[in-house]
Amino acid sequence: MWPAQLSKFALLASQILAPSHSLQSPSTCLSTSTTIEHLVDCFHPFTVPERKYPNYSSYNAAQPNATQRQAWSDAITAVLNVDGNCSSIPIHPSINTIISIVSFTESSGTAFCVLYESSIESGHYAKGWGLFVVPELRADVSRSVHFSAPHPGWPGGDGDTPQQAAALLKATGAKSLLVSGRRRTASTLPSDCVSSIPGAKPYYMTDPAHSVREPSFDANLAIIGWQNENGGCPATSCAFIQLHGKARTTCPSEQVFLSSGLGNSNASIAWYTNDVDRPIKRLKTQLLRSFPGWNISLPSDDNCILTATKNVVGRYLNNVDLSHVCVQGATAQGASGKFIHIEQAVVSLEPANLGPWAAALRETFGTT
Ligand SMILES: *[C@@H]1O[C@H](CO)[C@@H](O)[C@H](O)[C@H]1NC(C)=O
Ligand SMILES: *[C@@H]1O[C@H](CO)[C@@H](O)[C@H](O)[C@H]1NC(C)=O
Ligand SMILES: *[C@@H]1O[C@H](CO)[C@@H](O)[C@H](O)[C@H]1NC(C)=O
Ligand SMILES: *[C@@H]1O[C@H](CO)[C@@H](O)[C@H](O)[C@H]1NC(C)=O
Ligand SMILES: *[C@@H]1O[C@H](CO)[C@@H](O)[C@H](O)[C@H]1NC(C)=O
Repeated sequence: MWPAQLSKFALLASQILAPSHSLQSPSTCLSTSTTIEHLVDCFHPFTVPERKYPNYSSYNAAQPNATQRQAWSDAITAVLNVDGNCSSIPIHPSINTIISIVSFTESSGTAFCVLYESSIESGHYAKGWGLFVVPELRADVSRSVHFSAPHPGWPGGDGDTPQQAAALLKATGAKSLLVSGRRRTASTLPSDCVSSIPGAKPYYMTDPAHSVREPSFDANLAIIGWQNENGGCPATSCAFIQLHGKARTTCPSEQVFLSSGLGNSNASIAWYTNDVDRPIKRLKTQLLRSFPGWNISLPSDDNCILTATKNVVGRYLNNVDLSHVCVQGATAQGASGKFIHIEQAVVSLEPANLGPWAAALRETFGTT
């Protein structure tokens, strides 16, 4: 980045993001933050760092047991059911010393129900199960859109996906935001779910896009289950959107690369290019309006490898049976199109681009 751009970014960042990270506990963030994106930014440094779990025993020690896993999913569902009553959500005793659920009101007056991890260990979340945010009033939700940021702090750099997702949640009137509490590299043990191609770097245990053991994968299941029971997920107004930042060297000519979890086989290319209305096709059209001059592509436009065909949430949303998501890809015949995987260059994550991003998303999804 050139110095002029850098100072412009720093100025915007200071207006949009909280300046200080020298906090003692996540709970402090609730009183020091004035907006939901400040709050998410304030929580960010508590993310479980790289190589925190060097072996299976340390990984397992941070995992929920069966009782806690159920309680965690129930808590996610209870937050989705909120309508002005966030502070009365009960938390099961097996997890009530780990997570908290609180109502957070912005200085603008808008309230959010926030499920966050309140227990810390050596300056980071003790467990890293995740952060979940829903507008507290149903009247403040205008779109059945669910955002997630499964890889906080990846690849690092100027912008980050949790803060972007929080700003977009608010600006689009979306229903929920899920942020993983662990770096994807919190453990570099290989995932026992999805394996990479021989010779390539493995997917990790703590990568919730490629492991079904992560609590944030369970949270995804609870969110999808809730949406199915509350109106379903019609293509006109609903989607599950995963936000990612890509390394500069991967697909370097793309500012934004979109995928629904299908690759570029002939059948998949036909799926992306035929006349069937899909959220991802509308989003591409709207993003090109917001960002003229950017390369914004689908797998049918460019053979970029970031097609998310091994993403376990994407596979599940595309109708692969839950018991097979580790090993079976989605097919063009079975794909629902409810999954939108967004890979972005650094420029796309800059605070100055939040407005055009939100505008494109508002045009893509009808209000409910
Ligand atoms: C596993 O990692 C932890 C550090 O988190 C370490 O204290 C422990 O000794 C390791 N256990 C084994 C069996 O290597
Ligand atoms: C909050 O209100 C909603 C809507 O009336 C209801 O479905 C939900 O069960 C309530 N939750 C709690 C914890 O009272
Ligand atoms: C899980 O851990 C909680 C909290 O320590 C405990 O109360 C509960 O009995 C455990 N459940 C199982 C199935 O081990
Ligand atoms: C868009 O892609 C083309 C072809 O790869 C490339 O030449 C061009 O520089 C890219 N434009 C931007 C803005 O990155
Ligand atoms: C895929 O499409 C290309 C171009 O239309 C064609 O040459 C090729 O034979 C097709 N492949 C298969 C496996 O159908």
